[in-house]
Amino acid sequence: MCGIVGFSGTREAAPVLIDGLKRLEYRGYDSAGIAVADGERINVAKVKGYVRNLSEMTHDGADIKGFLGVGHTRWATHGAPNDINAHPHMSSDGRFAVVHNGIIENYAQLREELTAKGVKFVSDTDTEVVAHLLEEYYQGDAKKAVMRTAARLEGSYSLGVVCLDGTGRLFAMREQSPLILGVGVGENYFASDVAALVPHTKNVIYLDDGEFAEITPEEITVYDVRGIPVNKPISRIAWDVEAAEKGGYEHFMLKEIMEQPACFKATVEPRIKDGRIEFESFSLSDEELFGIDRIIITACGSAGYAGQVGRYVIEELCRIPVSVELASELRYRNPIINEKTLLIVISQSGETADTIAALKECRARGARTLAIVNVVGSTIAKLADHVIYTWAGPEIAVATTKGYTTQVAVLDMLAIYLADRLGRLEKSRYDELIVALHDMPGKIQRAIDLNRRVKRLAKRLCRHNDIYFIGRNLDYAVSMEGSLKLKEISYIFAEAYAAGELKHGTIALVEQGSLVVTLACYEPLLEKTMSNIEEVKARGAEVLAVVLEDNRQIVKMADEFILVPRTEPLFTPIAQIVPLQLFAYYVAKERGCDIDKPKNLAKSVTVE
Ligand code: BG6
Repeated sequence: MCGIVGFSGTREAAPVLIDGLKRLEYRGYDSAGIAVADGERINVAKVKGYVRNLSEMTHDGADIKGFLGVGHTRWATHGAPNDINAHPHMSSDGRFAVVHNGIIENYAQLREELTAKGVKFVSDTDTEVVAHLLEEYYQGDAKKAVMRTAARLEGSYSLGVVCLDGTGRLFAMREQSPLILGVGVGENYFASDVAALVPHTKNVIYLDDGEFAEITPEEITVYDVRGIPVNKPISRIAWDVEAAEKGGYEHFMLKEIMEQPACFKATVEPRIKDGRIEFESFSLSDEELFGIDRIIITACGSAGYAGQVGRYVIEELCRIPVSVELASELRYRNPIINEKTLLIVISQSGETADTIAALKECRARGARTLAIVNVVGSTIAKLADHVIYTWAGPEIAVATTKGYTTQVAVLDMLAIYLADRLGRLEKSRYDELIVALHDMPGKIQRAIDLNRRVKRLAKRLCRHNDIYFIGRNLDYAVSMEGSLKLKEISYIFAEAYAAGELKHGTIALVEQGSLVVTLACYEPLLEKTMSNIEEVKARGAEVLAVVLEDNRQIVKMADEFILVPRTEPLFTPIAQIVPLQLFAYYVAKERGCDIDKPKNLAKSVTVE
């Protein structure tokens, strides 16, 4: 995934573009670049590595003059991260500069066609074909050139185009990749994410697939794919620039861990009215609801692990079979889906390519679709029949924390709501769960407060090279996310394993000094989990137990422990994951890792 920005105004564009790129750097940081038109020419500066390299190279943009420009921060898909492959890409005649997020799937054929016409390519990227097509189709009218170029492209893209034609116009196009327009005063903008717009304006326009915009300092005109003007509403961003900044924390990840009590509250409380759960944009009729005979949850990464927790809770309360499927597998599995299937799609960004594809595949086969996403107006939110937003605010750290816990919160609420409508939940139990939901922000805060010692624990345990996370039932579901958190940001090999399955093979790897993190909060199976602790200790393992705060028995058995506040058992995962997030954070910190921008990762992978 990459980040693109654009500016058209009456002041120097470069500093605005570079600041915008810094706010989008979580989307990819292999290289960065800007292209600014000064009336005479388009000035380009681009470089491998972080946006700060671009900043240093251009004295924070002061060296690059002009009031109209585009910028890009890259997560490489085609072509290695280097200065040449960095965006923006230019047409041979220097009239067009292009920045791109997504993949031009037919770029090879277009490159071949253009090369045959004598075009000289300088990069290995798919994007460069766009710049040369614009030149090919330009006959004095940039808007027509943009339309003809867009008509040749296949794949997913959000594109920004600077054209040197003296009109001061910027063009922005969206096809299956997020692009938002910022409406300023005497200046206008576009960006991949509102985080880059908020310092300048809270008035935004969400482009839809197939639309493109013509942007000048005074005006934004949006057109449909035929070039007919479209009247688009102006939305107001609900949060402010501080929300997208670190707020005094060393890393976005730590800030977002600490925000979880508030994010849970923001996600849950508005949906409980007079003791009843109501979803503002999810309304299955009784006929549809009672017709559901299976639920499939699909997502990628941590969103999928949130789904693993949701599966246990929904099955427990609703007594409907639930399976959790990796989106990258489901999309190609010729799945057996029909109108009796409820597909729940989970995605923080709402832009993950595999998840989008799985959603489309299942919807085409008749599934009713519900999206749980954090980004308003995102692709998945638009594609699904129904959407329930997590109101976690902008999540900048690549490793999700508040995104995950608010996804689990929505799944817990959904389970209660569905079970109640299906008549499978006693009123007394319903009311008990509602009280427990109200109590959760305090429990999450207690999970943070109980574990001030995690930092010391991480210091002692951070040199392990492979770590096992084991558990049963909900503990097993949480162990998956706990393991991924550690892997993503500390680069330690970690594996989540069903505790009951360990003896069937993997225990062969457990030896003297192995670290086994044992999640032991699911009380119905506690005896079994205690046996698993004995099993691994008998083979020399060191056990870090994750236990309810009043469980003295396991604390005695384990070498180290992390405490979890006692909560409604079905909601324990939301508190249980918090100390594991902190553990991963402090281990990564001890290992000197780049916590907010882990190597090889992106916040959301909008390409296959
Ligand atoms: C990965 C991220 O690329 O995508 C994970 O590194 C995330 O943190 C996963 O869980 C899915 O992203 P999303 O936006 O669909 O939840």
